[in-house]
Amino acid sequence: MNKFYITTPLYYVNSKPHIGHSYTNIAVDTVSRFYRMKGYDVFFMTGTDEHGEKIEKASLASGLKAGEEKKFVDGIVPVFKDLWQKLGMQYDYFIRTTDDYHIKAVQAVLNKLYKDGRIYKKIYKGWFCTPCETFWSEAQSENGLCPDCKRHLEKLDEENYFFKISEYQEWLIDHINSNTSFIKPDFRRNEVLGFLREPLQDLCISRSKIRMSWGIEVPFDKNFVTYVWFDALINYISGIGYPGDTARLERYWPADFHIIGKDILRHHTVYWPIMLHALGMAPPKTIFAHGWWIVKGEKMSKSKGNVVDPVAVIDKYGIDTYRYFLLREVPFGLDGAFSEEALIKRYNSDLANDIGNLLNRTLTMVEKYFEGIVPVIKGQGSPHHSLRSDAGQARVKGRDQLKEKAAGLADELDKTLPQLDYSGALVKIWEVINIANKLIEDSKPWVLAKEKKTDELGSLLYSLLESLRIVALSIYPFMPATTKSIMEQLGVAEPVEKMKFEDIGTWGKLKPGTKVNKSKPLFPRIESA
Ligand code: MSP
Repeated sequence: MNKFYITTPLYYVNSKPHIGHSYTNIAVDTVSRFYRMKGYDVFFMTGTDEHGEKIEKASLASGLKAGEEKKFVDGIVPVFKDLWQKLGMQYDYFIRTTDDYHIKAVQAVLNKLYKDGRIYKKIYKGWFCTPCETFWSEAQSENGLCPDCKRHLEKLDEENYFFKISEYQEWLIDHINSNTSFIKPDFRRNEVLGFLREPLQDLCISRSKIRMSWGIEVPFDKNFVTYVWFDALINYISGIGYPGDTARLERYWPADFHIIGKDILRHHTVYWPIMLHALGMAPPKTIFAHGWWIVKGEKMSKSKGNVVDPVAVIDKYGIDTYRYFLLREVPFGLDGAFSEEALIKRYNSDLANDIGNLLNRTLTMVEKYFEGIVPVIKGQGSPHHSLRSDAGQARVKGRDQLKEKAAGLADELDKTLPQLDYSGALVKIWEVINIANKLIEDSKPWVLAKEKKTDELGSLLYSLLESLRIVALSIYPFMPATTKSIMEQLGVAEPVEKMKFEDIGTWGKLKPGTKVNKSKPLFPRIESA
């Protein structure tokens, strides 16, 4: 069985999750559902990053004493888990960097690299950004401000351990150049290659306990803890059994995808592959950096008070609307603007008007003209009387086009989703919805009913219902709850979880004679915010 191993970053537990965090998880959940439908052995891992100065400070600020950080992080982790549950995340494993086996894995990595002569000690004179948990050199500091987040840097002058990453620069450049799918999107690969034009500085991988003690102790020097990024990146292998469980490691490694935000590109595409290479392990197949959600033209921040709480949005508009909006609004990889107005606009046009309406009007007609029973396709290919007219021919052509486009969705998903082109996949699905809605307008079923062209009317309604079944299954990775309610309304008894990817491309699975269950509109129109 094919495997598919995909990860999210580990989120810092200094505050509650916001839409940025939920974005990555929704994207990963969506593509994981797609591969599960295709029968892959999927391993989707997410979790929390719990060490370091930022968390230590947050713990102290919450009123806890030094040394009580574990209590603090234990209090925040359930907030993340609750949100993921609420969003319908089907992750396979939740890793915490305070887990025992992870701590042991980090220490095993440090011991190995130290023994192999890859780690050495020297005085570190430079800067540190606590919010980014990143070291910066004198040259990189912008007058004492972080070049990334523009906040104040802390000056450091202390002994530390360093990992000789400079030795691997040529190897890394080569690897990036010869593997075009290693860093995605392509413009991010160029960004990393640009960064690698300058000589790499060895990476500081420790913090002195005198200054900061909330971390994994360096196994060969108890005066130090591990630098939080060095600790956290190792989760991608500790979570699948490094170092002891070689069978699981071999099963899942290399990861198919690490999905990250654009701000943590360097850590994932420079430090991490070098760490793996030094351990004698292969790099991940693809690191995909998505863009950021901005709000009213600005980065979200607590001080600006513009942080969007996913729970509030979900409670107001529903989970599937939220999932749909995030994945449809911007191509994955680019930045996007989040606003309730934009969400309502998409909701009203794509959900209420396009898909919601198609289901509603189709089922209304099935009830009205066929007593709620899925009709049989009749007369196709035979010299049926209604085919003699041009209009009749056009209607048959319209139905054929719908059938072809709907059954072709399997191929479209196969082309787009392995590239994480979520919006591209949704555009293709909505093309089918639009063709179906247009077919209703063009075929004028109410006229067919009046003229008693019952066979043709039945064929038309069957085509619409069957396209709805295919559309419903195609949106399953994105909007699983909507799939369920459409299937229920279509009268399909088989549980969605049992359906297969091939069912998308197989026209005719909906059985004539099935009783439909029209219920409330899926997405009632929203008149105002
Ligand atoms: N702990 C590190 C990751 C370690 S992975 C081994 C970290 N954590 S974070 O909580 O600060 O950020 C986690 C992710 O959220 C990052 O991928 C980041 O890009 C993403 N986002 C944070 N704000 C975001 C938006 N406004 N929009 C989209 N994603 C954003 O970095």
